[in-house]
Amino acid sequence: MPNGLYGDRHNSSGLEFGHRQSLQALIASLAGQTTQVEAGPLVPGASGQMETQPVLSPADRSRAVGTVRNAAVADVDRAFVAGRKGFARWSKMPVEARAACLDKTADLMEENRDRLLALLSAEAGKTLDDGIAEIREAVDFCRYYAQQARKLFGEAEAMPGPTGESNRLLWRGRGVFACISPWNFPLAIFLGQVSAALVAGNAVVAKPAPQTPLIAFEAVKLMHQAGVPADVLMLLPGGAEVGAAIAAHPALGGLAFTGSTGTAQSINRTLAAKTGPIVPLIAETGGINAMIVDATALAEQVADDVVMSAFRSAGQRCSALRILYLQEDIADGMLEMIEGAARELNLGDPALTTTDVGPVIDEKQKAMLEGHIADMRKGQKVRYAGTVPNTGNFFAPHIVELDKPEALTKEVFGPILHVVRWKAKDLGKVIESINATGYGLTLGVHSRIEQTIRTVTEALDTGNVYINRNMIGAVVGTQPFGGSGMSGTGFKAGGPAYLMRFALEQVISVNT
Ligand code: NAD
Ligand code: ALA
Repeated sequence: MPNGLYGDRHNSSGLEFGHRQSLQALIASLAGQTTQVEAGPLVPGASGQMETQPVLSPADRSRAVGTVRNAAVADVDRAFVAGRKGFARWSKMPVEARAACLDKTADLMEENRDRLLALLSAEAGKTLDDGIAEIREAVDFCRYYAQQARKLFGEAEAMPGPTGESNRLLWRGRGVFACISPWNFPLAIFLGQVSAALVAGNAVVAKPAPQTPLIAFEAVKLMHQAGVPADVLMLLPGGAEVGAAIAAHPALGGLAFTGSTGTAQSINRTLAAKTGPIVPLIAETGGINAMIVDATALAEQVADDVVMSAFRSAGQRCSALRILYLQEDIADGMLEMIEGAARELNLGDPALTTTDVGPVIDEKQKAMLEGHIADMRKGQKVRYAGTVPNTGNFFAPHIVELDKPEALTKEVFGPILHVVRWKAKDLGKVIESINATGYGLTLGVHSRIEQTIRTVTEALDTGNVYINRNMIGAVVGTQPFGGSGMSGTGFKAGGPAYLMRFALEQVISVNT
């Protein structure tokens, strides 16, 4: 299992977390503390909005985890003014000094991991497994990008040229870079974007999702503690209004966005309408991710991998399985096994070691999922609906059998598995249906026929393909992650090319 509790695979961060029981005790004690996180804008001279708002736990809406004072729209301009000054110093620092700040942040996250874990559980509803994996991913991003930056940006590269001329290629920051992130990986994606932009030599204006400002606030404070100056990394908590003002700002040097395809398209329109410099957009977005299972697949493994990919993390991963294509001959037996495995899942308080699936992030998301199931009941077959606790934003795993794949027209972000049956002669049609969605994020294939695996892999434009395993939990530096088409622009996060879009190339030719 990738991202397992004790770092069984690829634990480049080297985290040792001790026992689940002691973590659980810690989470319980933090939950009972009256001192809570009080987040607000981290921008020199920022005023923020007058009012503070409580940040409620998704598992228990009667519990405030902390408070947030969102940025005022005027703070956006303040951040860019400060950021231009910060950039002038930061971009001239040797790459080693910037990379050292990332390594130090990774160390600090390890030192503060219990507190971060408690916050991930309370604010984002992360189960212990998911919270631990997320901290590890954040640590890995920092260490990996530090390492990549030393390789890529360390020395100017000598280029070949005629006698009497020296040519050198070097990289520099682009200016004030914006990082806009989603709530579903409020630490790892948030810090992944921020650390990449910083180490490439940019100042950063970061806007976390409005559902998860507290963990972002803590992460920025750790980066400041690690040596990143206050005018080089700034935090603007808030929602779409603040994000839109950031995207529209004339001093924007580049924008890294992770979130829904619709928001990326809206940001893209804002950037395209600008006069002046053309601003690069790095967008990592959603998907209608498919898994194709043929009659040669190993049934038990398929059941495990489907349940893990569709329902773990309450289906709130961009990589999660949304539509399962089951070969007709095995479909009935396979569905029984999948339902049986889904029934075994424990839904509940994410801070308990016994919990497999926590809440969805907020009431709006829960209502969207309920609405989708109500729509599905009108024409499709809802085969399975689990049960949920009464408190909080819980939504039970569901299995919906579709009469045709086109019945699913959008990414439905939660624990709902859609199933379509296919006949052996129709693999080509399955491939066409998947490509027709326009998305290309993750794909699973379960087959023991090499030709099938080759055909499917070659015919689909999907960014991350998982064969005979689950399809979530990409590991930094091992499975660089990101999609194509409506799923994103690339380059892949956690991969060797990611840092390049954050930097400008400059060639210096000298007549010697
Ligand atoms: P979202 O698009 O609603 O919000 C993402 C961020 O954009 C938030 O910070 C939000 O406040 C901000 N925002 C909203 N409107 C904006 C605007 N007009 N201008 C600027 N910023 C704006 O997404 P979400 O609900 O937070 O996250 C879930 C989505 O993220 C899913 O679609 C999921 O697939 C996707 N996601 C993708 C990846 C990936 O790596 N491809 C990873 C995680 C999540
Ligand atoms: N990178 C995350 C995963 O692979 C989204 O599940």
